Amino acid sequence: MRKARRDQWLAVGSGMAALLLLVAALPAAGAKPEEKAAASKDTSQYVGSDTCKTCHEDIYKNFETTPHWKTTFNKKGPEWQGCEGCHGPGAEHVAAGGDKSKIFTFKDVSPKEVSKRCLECHQYGEEHANFDRSQHNINDVSCIACHSPHHSKDREFLLVQKQPDLCFTCHTETKQDFSRPFRHRVEQGLVRCTDCHNQHGGFLTKQLRATAAQDQVCFKCHADKAGPFAFEHEPVKTEGCVACHSPHGSTNPRLLKRSQINLLCLECHTLTVDSPVPEAPSFHNQAQKYQACTICHVAIHGSNFDHFFFR
Ligand code: HEC
Ligand code: HEC
Ligand code: HEC
Ligand code: HEC
Ligand code: HEC
Ligand code: HEC
Ligand code: HEC
Ligand code: HEC
Ligand code: HEC
Ligand code: HEC
Repeated sequence: MRKARRDQWLAVGSGMAALLLLVAALPAAGAKPEEKAAASKDTSQYVGSDTCKTCHEDIYKNFETTPHWKTTFNKKGPEWQGCEGCHGPGAEHVAAGGDKSKIFTFKDVSPKEVSKRCLECHQYGEEHANFDRSQHNINDVSCIACHSPHHSKDREFLLVQKQPDLCFTCHTETKQDFSRPFRHRVEQGLVRCTDCHNQHGGFLTKQLRATAAQDQVCFKCHADKAGPFAFEHEPVKTEGCVACHSPHGSTNPRLLKRSQINLLCLECHTLTVDSPVPEAPSFHNQAQKYQACTICHVAIHGSNFDHFFFR
């Protein structure tokens, strides 16, 4: 998907017709689609990026090195090109010698308005299509809380700063999760927040991503746990990995939710009325021998050989 979108943009010539259709087919998407439509009839208000360059040379030089430079060749017209693709028509601003009240500056508008402006071009494909429903948008975290077109510290993806520090600036409680003795090593860059979460929004709770097959995101890297197994351990499929693991980090080995394995298992395998979950057999008295359940029930995520997960 990512690749496909990139190609769309690159094929500015022939591919642009398709893209045009795509964007035109998003009536509710743009901030002020009517405004943009109206403006497109009167292109005289657009002066082109070369004019902006005469007074904003530093910004222009940096802009030339970012992916947004590609908009310069957008065949849809000047309102989609260069500086004015984001800042809107600049003629009045220029005529007034740089009056900042006569150009869109991103400063005095709501976070949702900021994002709408970016989404005029970016609301296509699966990645951003659900930004509206994201917890970020709902809680007024706009595109430019994470991205900076002119002053990015991380040039890749124009990020305000690198992951995970970017995310930790707001998610301080999550930072603690990743300081625990056992954790996914996001601080070392081995796993990224955005491997598991879609920061731009999606349909799953906690903005979790899914695998290509629309399964639990964990299977993307832990494919051996996916099965299918002849003998499934039911909660792995029904409740998901978080039934037993703390996905960010834990004080317990293997990211387990409980400090002792028997306590974890007995949360479900105890006798309760009407429960379909089998009680641990009575010979499993909690003598030392039976406490480390996975010494015997080794294949705890499912087995192709044994009903009781002995191998
Ligand atoms: C004739 C010189 C000149 C040209 C040409 C010009 N600007 Fe400006 N621009 C200025 C000056 C001077 C300021 C600073 C105004 C201030 O700080 O009061 C400014 C401010 C701005 C700001 C607001 C900065 C802020 O601090 O809020 C934006 C955005 C901007 N310009 C964009 C553009 C764009 C886009 C173009 C091309 C369409 C452009 N400018 C062309 C002189 C110019
Ligand atoms: C992809 C959208 C986008 C494009 C393209 C863009 N800008 Fe901006 N511009 C912004 C945003 C967003 C801000 C607000 C500050 C920030 O987040 O970096 C901004 C801020 C500014 C400012 C305020 C001063 C500053 O340094 O932040 C000026 C001046 C400016 N832009 C001029 C330009 C010029 C000139 C161009 C073309 C060379 C241009 N912009 C292209 C989005 C854009
Ligand atoms: C909470 C932070 C955050 C917010 C809010 C956010 N982004 Fe991103 N975005 C990222 C990160 C981090 C990446 C780096 C790629 C990755 O790891 O998935 C990224 C990647 C991207 C990319 C390049 C990769 C791709 O999949 O196309 C684009 C384009 C983009 N963001 C645009 C936007 C736009 C437009 C908005 C607002 C509608 C936005 N982002 C809001 C954090 C954010
Ligand atoms: C006029 C159309 C347009 C607007 C408006 C626009 N972008 Fe973009 N953006 C593009 C194009 C074109 C690319 C390059 C895509 C590519 O390289 O395939 C791009 C690329 C990006 C990337 C990816 C950078 C990378 O390294 O891959 C990010 C992040 C991004 N834009 C964020 C934003 C944000 C934030 C805003 C609003 C402030 C915004 N864009 C507004 C057209 C636009
Ligand atoms: C500017 C502050 C800010 C930044 C930066 C930020 N977030 Fe958020 N994020 C929020 C807010 C506010 C919420 C909504 C309230 C909450 O759930 O904490 C949220 C919600 C979320 C949620 C949904 C939580 C839920 O309960 O549904 C996830 C997942 C998330 N952010 C991941 C990320 C990731 C990953 C990054 C870095 C790429 C990031 N955030 C960067 C402010 C931020
Ligand atoms: C290995 C996958 C994975 C990684 C990496 C990951 N998360 Fe999560 N995250 C999850 C899962 C799964 C949940 C849901 C937990 C639940 O439902 O009990 C979650 C929940 C959250 C929540 C909701 C509040 C909470 O703690 O339950 C936030 C916010 C969040 N993650 C932010 C982040 C940030 C920020 C990063 C990077 C520093 C990150 N996550 C990295 C899998 C991951
Ligand atoms: C992007 C790849 C990736 C994703 C997605 C991912 N993991 Fe991991 N996971 C790893 C890597 C790599 C390690 C090894 C960590 C290390 O050595 O520091 C690991 C380690 C673990 C461990 C500890 C293994 C041990 O031997 O101590 C558990 C448990 C685990 N992951 C569970 C999960 C769960 C649950 C999810 C989904 C919420 C998940 N993982 C998603 C890459 C991933
Ligand atoms: C019913 C509880 C339970 C569920 C659900 C569960 N696990 Fe585990 N998992 C465990 C236990 C217990 C261990 C430790 C086994 C040991 O140390 O002998 C473990 C160990 C692991 C390990 C490290 C050792 C190894 O076998 O590679 C990984 C990785 C892991 N689990 C990933 C996952 C993933 C991914 C999911 C979701 C698909 C998941 N787990 C669901 C109980 C569970
Ligand atoms: C979240 C609840 C839950 C947890 C935690 C859990 N299980 Fe289970 N377990 C189940 C369910 C549900 C079944 C399926 C029962 C059925 O098929 O009727 C099951 C089946 C089993 C079976 C097969 C029983 C049979 O008769 O086929 C064994 C053995 C087992 N679990 C051992 C464990 C062990 C050991 C642990 C701890 C590492 C554990 N379980 C943790 C819910 C759980
Ligand atoms: C020393 C090896 C051993 C250890 C340790 C062990 N088990 Fe078992 N477990 C067994 C045997 C043997 C069976 C019976 C298999 C049979 O009936 O053929 C069994 C069966 C089970 C069953 C299936 C009961 C049923 O009626 O279907 C569950 C559930 C179970 N164990 C849970 C646990 C839990 C929870 C722990 C840790 C508290 C644990 N086991 C520790 C050997 C062990």
